[in-house]
Amino acid sequence: PRRPRVLSGIQPTADSFHLGNYLGALRQWVSLQDTHETFYCVVDLHAITIEQDPKVLRERTRASAAQLLALGIDPARTALFVQSHVPEHTQLSWVLECLAGFGEAGRMTQFKDKSARQSEDHVSVGLFTYPVLQAADILIYQADQVPVGEDQRQHLELTRNLAQRFNSRYGKTLRAPEPFIVKDTAKIFDLQDPTAKMSKSVPGGVIELREDPKRSAKKIRSAVTDTGREIVYDPESKPGVSNLLVIYSALSGRAVEELTTAYAGKGYGDLKKDLAEVLVDFVVPFQQQVDGYLDDRAELDKILATGAERAREVASKTLRTVYDRIGF
Ligand code: ADP
Ligand code: NA
Repeated sequence: PRRPRVLSGIQPTADSFHLGNYLGALRQWVSLQDTHETFYCVVDLHAITIEQDPKVLRERTRASAAQLLALGIDPARTALFVQSHVPEHTQLSWVLECLAGFGEAGRMTQFKDKSARQSEDHVSVGLFTYPVLQAADILIYQADQVPVGEDQRQHLELTRNLAQRFNSRYGKTLRAPEPFIVKDTAKIFDLQDPTAKMSKSVPGGVIELREDPKRSAKKIRSAVTDTGREIVYDPESKPGVSNLLVIYSALSGRAVEELTTAYAGKGYGDLKKDLAEVLVDFVVPFQQQVDGYLDDRAELDKILATGAERAREVASKTLRTVYDRIGF
């Protein structure tokens, strides 16, 4: 039987992915390659919903692709591509914009959150239609499943509604994707404020995968821990230590219970020192691989061109049918 097809994307809005991106999302991208037909893209079209410097955007797009490859995205098994290289995304997006209700789009909570922080004239129409482009990203590949976190559920629901609306108006054409709740995704918290999500927008407590490993080790060693001295997993009353245990477990493959047993009677300092080592052992070869991809621009561009070609084979077929149904 055919493997279920999955589509996911990540924005090139930072020089480096952070540990939360990896343990919360990208690690699952890697393992989905074993069970799914995988389409992964660097979503540069989404990135320009807020202003980007062209030179920086170009660098970050390539650096994002290089990091995905270094983390284990295998171009032999995955169509790995840059969103803007596949024009069908924007072509389908226009069609879907004409099906989406203004009020419906206005109810997207992520838009409300993001736009609330800026004056109305600084919020682009693109930021408003962002979830519709996201729907196009998914529907253009007839994806069966989309890995989603809690924050993306509403967008996936919109995607499903738009697919169904198109189908009821024009005849069955687009597949309404199911959410794929990935097991073993870890939510990683800020090292300085373990009640907040680790995020690039909060520089203090974030581990960036491309930063100096010595700096990362230092951040682990100075992570905020909790009162008391026992190493136990208790996210409610010991969020700091619990976060370190989750990170340790994910990077080492050792279960949290195995770790708490191994560290019984030891102190926070021992845990942090060992975790810092585990982290450094992970990022050093990762960074070497990233640099390798970035040093060979021609090879990286070839991988992305091949990925875009594979993506376009599917995307152009969907678009042709969509246009035909509409009367184009
Ligand atoms: P950021 O929160 O730094 O802006 P993004 O929102 O671009 O990062 O997230 C990209 C992916 O990484 C998403 O799938 C998101 O759910 C995941 N992710 C981001 N931060 C974390 C975190 N702290 N823990 C787990 N997953 C995360
Ligand atoms: Na986010």
